[in-house]
Amino acid sequence: MATDQVSFTEGELLLDHEMAEPLITGGVRCHGGFDDDGTYVSPRTKFRVPAIHAWQAQNAETFGTETVHVPLDTWPGHVPNVAQARHLITAGVPEPLIATLTRIGTVEGFGANIRLLQPGDMQPHFDEDIRGTAIDHLGKGLFEAHGRDEAGWEEEAGHMDMWFAARDVAFEFPTAKVDIDAMLARMGFGQPGSGPGADLARALPDDIDPNLELIANLMIRVLFIEVQAFHTFAWAEEWLSDTDLVAGDGRAADLVSFIRADETPHVDYLKTALTEMRDRTWIGSGGTKHRGADMIGTLWQRGLDQSLGEGRVQTRKAVLAEVEHWCMEHEGGANILAEFHSLATREDAAA
Ligand SMILES: [Fe+2]
Ligand SMILES: [Fe+2]
Repeated sequence: MATDQVSFTEGELLLDHEMAEPLITGGVRCHGGFDDDGTYVSPRTKFRVPAIHAWQAQNAETFGTETVHVPLDTWPGHVPNVAQARHLITAGVPEPLIATLTRIGTVEGFGANIRLLQPGDMQPHFDEDIRGTAIDHLGKGLFEAHGRDEAGWEEEAGHMDMWFAARDVAFEFPTAKVDIDAMLARMGFGQPGSGPGADLARALPDDIDPNLELIANLMIRVLFIEVQAFHTFAWAEEWLSDTDLVAGDGRAADLVSFIRADETPHVDYLKTALTEMRDRTWIGSGGTKHRGADMIGTLWQRGLDQSLGEGRVQTRKAVLAEVEHWCMEHEGGANILAEFHSLATREDAAA
């Protein structure tokens, strides 16, 4: 649906397409569904997707600029890699994969925190008019739609439970045998200071509204997580679709492909609103003007450094510790672990 419409109600931005059939997997009623042709349709996209396209086109026309972009290959591939995942499962040590799918679902659930942001009226922060922009709709449907997609809404499961469903389909309800809380605790969840948004140190000039900085900063961090997730989808779909390796006749991989489809509007609205912020003039509390390109550029660089540096080191450490933990629980674990390490991707082994 192409549209010149640039102003939407919250109800419109949260509205589903009409669906011919709901998505139900592993006994879980998920969001989204299928059209008459059996094609998967993401939730809450009837107006949201054309809205994003209209805002992008409008911003390009107003400022003559391109939408911000961050390519997937900014980040290395998933750890463990596909060969390592296959090896662990065939060696009889599926628990690290169960842990990984649980960790991904848990991180998805944290993504819903974006709906806690309170943009309020953003106009006083910007010199240029923001009516009919993505910025102006962040607190009027966009953050809420994002939060519902990640954590679920009413009776429909979102990404968190969809990853858990993929895990349960592929490994036939392993949570009866594995202590999930202990697993998450080992990987650093539930500790103070963990999770997105933990880094609240100011990076922008003092006269920039702290709430605006908080919002732009979290949007950038979430955008980086969302883009990197496409490595995770490709990785998970590859081995979850192998019917000789895991249970579920490929249904777990299908579920991951539906989650992947839902992420595109997240990446797109975040990019669009950040582009609008970059191209505008920011107004400090005393009336001082700042170039949006400097403001977004500063937060962008800091976020990228964190994501490629400390963030990656921590995740990798937690994942490898979990692999080691489970290998050692099994007979011949040392050999299984040695083989696991020998299958490491070169860039990762060097890290
Ligand atoms: Fe998600
Ligand atoms: Fe997302």
